[in-house]
Amino acid sequence: MLLYINVYSIMRGNRTFTMIKPTAVKKGHIGPILAIINDAGFKIIAMKLLRLSKEQAQQFYAIHKERPFYADLCTFMSSGPIVAAIIEKDDAVNAYRELIGATNPANAKEGTIRKLFATSLQENAVHGSDSDENAVIEGNFFFSDIEKF
Ligand code: CMP
Repeated sequence: MLLYINVYSIMRGNRTFTMIKPTAVKKGHIGPILAIINDAGFKIIAMKLLRLSKEQAQQFYAIHKERPFYADLCTFMSSGPIVAAIIEKDDAVNAYRELIGATNPANAKEGTIRKLFATSLQENAVHGSDSDENAVIEGNFFFSDIEKF
């Protein structure tokens, strides 16, 4: 059992992908959110400010295409600029999901990014990858190799 835990922890990745969503950008929360990420010990590997087209948002969130909220989510995510970033820390996916809090801000713990800055389940301030595999796929969606440091 001890061996299993050690091997498992070694296998966990050290990078995750995040977006600061349109409402949080519009409200001027880029700086405060990046400060929380920085203070939590994440290193920035790649970062850009951009606006997704509707088609790009649909492609990014294709995993949710059968869900009832998919169309609204893609309209929202293409409604204004976002910040996309790859960030690095030990066990990054889990550490970042802990930092941002539950997807629904109503369930997010005090002090988490979503508790502090989200306005609804859809407009929940930030996205964070849910697995190492998706972190790589999502990071590669936005950044080429020469944009990662
Ligand atoms: P995010 O981490 O970007 O991943 C998918 C997004 O879909 C999620 O954050 C929410 O913004 C949104 N989402 C998830 N579940 C629902 C839901 N039940 N209703 C509306 N939006 C949702």
